Amino acid sequence: MQVKVANKAGFCYGVKRALDLALTEASNNAGPIYTLGPLIHNPQVVRDLALQGIQELSDLDQAEGGTVIIRSHGVGPEVLEKSEQKKIKLLDATCPFVARAQKYAREMTEEGIPVYILGDPGHPEVQGILGWTKGKGIVVESADEISRVEHPRVGVVAQTTQPLTNYQRLVEAFQKQGVEVDARNTICHATGERQQAAWELAQEVDVVVVVGGKTSANTKKLAKLCEETGTPTYHIESAEELRQEWFRDCRKVGLTAGASTPDAIIEEVKRRMSELDQMTNGDEAMDPAMEVKSPRTGELVKGVVVQ
Ligand code: F3S
Repeated sequence: MQVKVANKAGFCYGVKRALDLALTEASNNAGPIYTLGPLIHNPQVVRDLALQGIQELSDLDQAEGGTVIIRSHGVGPEVLEKSEQKKIKLLDATCPFVARAQKYAREMTEEGIPVYILGDPGHPEVQGILGWTKGKGIVVESADEISRVEHPRVGVVAQTTQPLTNYQRLVEAFQKQGVEVDARNTICHATGERQQAAWELAQEVDVVVVVGGKTSANTKKLAKLCEETGTPTYHIESAEELRQEWFRDCRKVGLTAGASTPDAIIEEVKRRMSELDQMTNGDEAMDPAMEVKSPRTGELVKGVVVQ
């Protein structure tokens, strides 16, 4: 069984930058260091960070006197103001692509036009962008949510992980109504590249394995795209979740990973897939669930390797 890794997979620029900033801070700063929510959507990495003294908090009030790392998702201005009041030192790891979306949202709000934010309303990145519109932005998940628009001109920004087609459909929905659109495509290239590579890979393999946090928006989107090609797709967080039966009779398996998945985890999954292949499809191995007759005693036994 051949395992083919997507030519763009794993850590993106913004996640790598956030991790590097956090680790440098941990080695230089003896005081308490926190992140508001997990630094990245990968539980193994978050556990490693905790071992290095970087703790996850849900509320800024708990961080008084410490250092708080702003995640790559970014935050709204209210978090910056509150930190200043509480004398909390901030280390800004907002991804520059997210910062660009925040800047556009702020500028268009100051211009006085309604700002539509295409994205998942519950995602912290979208919540942060919304903050820069002073809460006036309108969050939509697709063009289907657009009804009659009264304003002659609107602004559009997108959560960085949105599929391009979703963004294009939204812009077109406004244009069809004759509304002038200040359309700012804020989808980051890392997302587009990973989605394109995953989609191409899914079409040339028998099964796709997508590695990444179960709460990672970009990983979930990769898995959905792969599923849509009709190729069986499995979204896992770690090698332990791999199942032997997924690879039965497979000749070629695709492997891709979300932007918050470290190379070490991708390598571990790849290694485990090769092991399972040996157990499932190897010349000497037999399915552990299959009953066979022992050549020595003649008894029916399970999972025996017959030499
Ligand atoms: Fe930034 Fe794009 Fe990664 S927005 S955090 S480079 S997925």
